[in-house]
This record gives sequence, structure tokens and C-alpha cells, in this order.
Amino acid sequence: MSKRYTITAALPYTNGPIHIGHLAGVYVPADIYSRYLRLLGNDVAFICGSDEHGVPITIKAKKEGVSPQDIVDKYHANIKQSFEDFGISFDNYSRTTAKIHHETASEFFKTLYDNNEFVEEISEQLYDAEADQFLADRFVTGTCPKCGNEEAYGDQCENCGTSLNATDLINPKSAITGNVPTLKETKHWFLPLNKHEQFLKDWILKGHKKDWKPNVYGQVKSWIDDGLRPRAVTRDLDWGIPVPVEGGEGKVLYVWFDAPIGYISATKEWAEREGKNWEDYWKKEDTTLVHFIGKDNIVFHCIIFPSMLKAEGSYILPENVPANEFLNLEGSKLSTSKNWAVWLPDYLEDFPDQQDVLRYALTANAPETKDNDFTWKDFQARNNNELVAIFGNFINRVVVLTNKYYNGIVPQPSDYSEVDKETLAALKAYPAVISSSIERYRFREASQELMNLARLGNKYLADEEPWKTIKTDEERTKTVMFVALQIASALDVLSEPFLPFTSVKLKSILNKMDDKWDDVSSDKTLLPANHQIGKGELLFSKIEDTEIEKQLAKLEASKKANEAANKTAEPQKDEIAFDDFTKLDMRVGTIIEAEKMPKTKKLLVLKVDTGIDTRTIVSGIAESFKPEEIIGKRVTVLVNLAPRKLRGIESQGMILMTEDEHGNLIFVNPDTSTSNQDANEVINGLKIS
Ligand code: MF3
Ligand code: ZN
Repeated sequence: MSKRYTITAALPYTNGPIHIGHLAGVYVPADIYSRYLRLLGNDVAFICGSDEHGVPITIKAKKEGVSPQDIVDKYHANIKQSFEDFGISFDNYSRTTAKIHHETASEFFKTLYDNNEFVEEISEQLYDAEADQFLADRFVTGTCPKCGNEEAYGDQCENCGTSLNATDLINPKSAITGNVPTLKETKHWFLPLNKHEQFLKDWILKGHKKDWKPNVYGQVKSWIDDGLRPRAVTRDLDWGIPVPVEGGEGKVLYVWFDAPIGYISATKEWAEREGKNWEDYWKKEDTTLVHFIGKDNIVFHCIIFPSMLKAEGSYILPENVPANEFLNLEGSKLSTSKNWAVWLPDYLEDFPDQQDVLRYALTANAPETKDNDFTWKDFQARNNNELVAIFGNFINRVVVLTNKYYNGIVPQPSDYSEVDKETLAALKAYPAVISSSIERYRFREASQELMNLARLGNKYLADEEPWKTIKTDEERTKTVMFVALQIASALDVLSEPFLPFTSVKLKSILNKMDDKWDDVSSDKTLLPANHQIGKGELLFSKIEDTEIEKQLAKLEASKKANEAANKTAEPQKDEIAFDDFTKLDMRVGTIIEAEKMPKTKKLLVLKVDTGIDTRTIVSGIAESFKPEEIIGKRVTVLVNLAPRKLRGIESQGMILMTEDEHGNLIFVNPDTSTSNQDANEVINGLKIS
């Protein structure tokens, strides 16, 4: 019973490459699901494309001094390549600047407009007079009225997920100039979500949507319970799809209005190419529509887009929206701007041909029910302890032994023992077990079941020891090897959604064609006796500590670069007059003695030769410097500071210290200049100048 499916994966914004968070949250699960459905013989349209409109792209273009089109051209190519590289098996990867999309989105808007589904309203919107621009979405930040996050955007608070109107923000600030915006009147078209409240309640709350993931259902319910308000679907911008109705001059469709329609236009593009009817995939009740997204997209896919589809009237609605939570990286939030990410092109450079390792590590640790952390240590462990030690090791043993004992020809089994029968029965149960996890969108559980099948194979070999029986019982050995080969072949089928590159390699090693998912549980013999298999080839290789350390060092470098970038040299104290400065008498001195002040943590007692005398100075630097390492050091000394007593010792001056860019305490060192002589002159120069 082949069924028809339309599977969508969130269209990525085209303002940067994609990273592991995107892969883990959206594209790998969507790909596993689509590949799985195809293996069952279903009719699948797996659809995605680049989301090329919207404010972040125009901001990026401005920053780089190029056009928005330049930005999207560059990253569309980059992202598309990454998806291909990682085996994300889209049937079509389109883009929202495509002509077919502009036409489709325009038409969609027109239809709703003609059906009076919009409310037209002149209202006051935030305006940046200096930039001569209205501020919406990412052009404006401010405090979230719901959770108090001070960095909420004009369309959404990323902290609590609330979808906002720019005018909801408390203390709004222009992202272009930093100015406080004023209000200015402008006309826009609004989608009256309030009008669709009853439909949404019936569809989601009363419908069977209770089996949606709790994080999705819970969020949607709370939005509906809070009451829905009209939402502007047009913007005063010049980058986007022009509003196709009277009075729409100079305005474009809101990016979140046009982008989800991108799923439809990408399907059209594909159908035209393949000679199919796109409407089958969007308008037939027996088509199952599933949206894979990250949690920040929930409101758009569960409330706004369904309301648009419903208002249009001829479309089906999603069967499920399995949104994932977020993936963190080594304990911190992934961030494009802070370069806190593992970018896919970079990964491939460092780990060529190891796409499946990343796919597996991200699946085994997917942020399905809560935010999760990606660590390089875990990545290494998933590879070394599971892919290499379990999966790869099992396949390797089977292939090597078959070649060694039988020149690669699958042996004829004789009577099965109880263990053989149990093992074959367990094997046949796996497709149903893994299916059940996949169909409930539990991909991490599914990936672990797949690994359990390899474990079953390893245990079987370890228990039956064909390398021993080969010397005593040839018939028994043949049977054992035959059973083990069936497990290996089942793995090439069932691993395909998770480890597509490995599955291809494994099929080539076993020299066999593709089987369907259900063949594994059927009576079909996957690898019949007398079938010739190929030579062994390692499927996975160990990842060494040095490779992991290299990745950690990369991240450390990003962290340092960020800290340095964030430290602007803002003065921390009030301005002083030049005369105040000339009051300071500074000299170059040499530390001639140093010891810790007893019973204190911070203080050192120093004897300093200032060139005019030798004095005692108490300095609070003991946590940063050991006495023995600073004896002989040349330092800058303020000699006319009024003496004061510290713990009974009179301190007669001050050693000048400052912080470097990492916050470490350092000496204001008179010797950084070309010669000591110069240094003296410069220091004393304040008297000269
Ligand atoms: N570009 C959006 C994001 O990255 C997702 C758009 S999904 C679509 O968050 F439905 F609008 F296409
Ligand atoms: Zn918030």
C-alpha cells in the first residue's frame, strides 16, 4: 500500500553556511524519515529550498557592501552543496528568489486578498528617521513584554519563543542606527488570526493532535489560550516579493508569509521537471504532509501557515510538525555571529568522507525532547565505541572470514540450532522495532536500535566462534557464517536512512542490490548461498585524540576572538583634566626584593629601586605573580602617591598595572619601547610635553 507523502524541511535563511545545529534539528531527521518512507515503497516528495528574503539578509548585504542578491547567490550555492555533501536526499532544493516562487506567493496573496481574508489597516509603526526606514522584524530589538529578555527582535523573542509585533517591544532600538524609533503611519495587510481561532482549536486542540510532540502541542496550546491577534503580512521594505495589489507600491510580502509558500513552489518546480501533478502533493486528502522544523518555527508552522492554507481553502493541513529543540555546542548556544558553531564545509575539510559519523553522532544525541549538547568527546566516542567497535567490527569480521574460508562465496547452511533460529527471529523483528521509533519521530531511539542489531551480530559471532569451529566442524561453521551474513545484509538495508554512505559501501562490499525495508522481515533470503561477495573495506576508522583536540582548539580560538571583539576600550572612569595627569610623578624602577605579606592572599611587599631612592611598596598582585618571578623586573612606579599603611607596613608609592585583552593582570612595562633609554624619556616625557 504505497502512500503519498509531502515532507518539508524548514527553508534555511541564506545569510551564512549551515552548521551542526541545523543538521541535527531539522535536516537529518527529515532525511531519515524521507529515506525510510521511500524504502517502504511510498511516493515521497521531500522538499526544501533557500529562504532568501527577510531582514537579516539585507543587513548582511549592507555590512558587506554588496547587494542582497549577491548574498543569497553565494549562500544558496554553499548551503545546497552542504546538503548534497551530507546526503540530504531532497527531491527538490529550490529558492525563494526563483520566478516560480514569486509567482506562486504573489498568486496566493492575491487569492486571499480577493476573498477578503485580509484586514487592511493604517497604523503607526516604528520608524527610524535617520535611516529613513520603517523598523520591523530584525531591524528592531527591545525588551520582550512576556519574559523580559532585553534582546528580543521585532518579530520574535528567541528566549521564550513568543511571536511579537515590533510595537510590542519595550524600549525599542533601531538595529540600523541604534536610535530610538519614532512612530509613523503606514498601511499594511493583516491576517486576522483571531478569525481562525476556532478552526485552530478544533484542528489542533480537539483533533487528534494530542499525539504531536509535547513541546509542540504545549506551545501551540498556550498561544491559542492566550488569544490570537491579527498579524501584518506585508512590510515597508524593498527586498522581497512586491505586494501585488493596489496600494502595495514600495511594500513587500512579510518573509514569513512568503517562505512557507516556498514549500509549494518548490513542489511545483519539481513536479514540472518530473512530469507529475503538484496538486496531488498539496491538495489531495490522502496525502500526508509533515513539516520538519526547529522549535523557533513552531508558531509559523502550526498557527500562521495553517491559517493561510485554511483561508485559501484548497490545501491540506500538516499531519504532524515534529519540531526539535536546540542543539548546543560544548555547553554554549550555537551562534553564527559569535562563530560558535561547527560549519558543515569546515567539518568536511577536517573529516573528509565522514559524513555518516556526524549524521550518526547528531542523531544518537538529537535534541528531540530537550535542548542537547554536542561535544567533540561524545562525537569521538560515538565513532570509536559504536560505529567502529560495534558496526564496523561486525561487518569486517563477517567479510574477512567469508573471504578467508570460502573465497567470498556465501556458504550453504545446514540445520539451524536453537540459537540460530532465535537470532534469525530477532533479526526479522528489527524492521518493525525501528519503524515504530521512526514513525513516532524518535530518531535517536531508532538509531540505537540499529546499533543493537549490529550488537546482536557481534554477540552471535562471539558466542558461536566460527574461528574455532572451522577447525572442528565445517558444517557448523558454514551455518554460522550464513546466519552472520544475513545480519550483515539486514544492516545494509536498515542503516540506509541513518548512514546512507555506509549503506552504499556495504552493499558494494556484499555485492548486492537494494532491498526494501520489509524484505528484512519477510521470508526472502537477503544473501542466498553461492552468492559471491566482494573484498573487505573498512567502513569506519578510529578518530584519534589529536583530531578532537584540534577541534577544541578551534573553538577556543573563537571564544578568544569573541572576548577580544567584545572588549571595546570604553573608559571606565570619568574624564580628567590634563593638569590632573601632570600631577603624577612616574619613574622607571626595578624590583629588588619581593615577599608575600604574611596571612594575606593578595599582597606582596616589594623593595623597589626608583632611581632616586629605594622604597617599600605593598602591591596587590600576589594572586597573579610569585615573588621569585618578579625580582629584577623593571616596572613603572608612581612615586608621589601619599604613603599609606597596609597591615602595618607603610607603602610608599604604587606599581602601575593594567589588564591585557584576556583580563590577565600585567605590568605597565617600561621596556616595551625600543630601548630603556627611550622608555625613560617617554615615561618622564609627560614632564617634557
Ligand atoms: N528561514 C527560517 C529559519 O531559518 C525557516 C523558514 S521555514 C518556512 O528559521 F516555512 F518559512 F519555509
Ligand atoms: Zn520573551
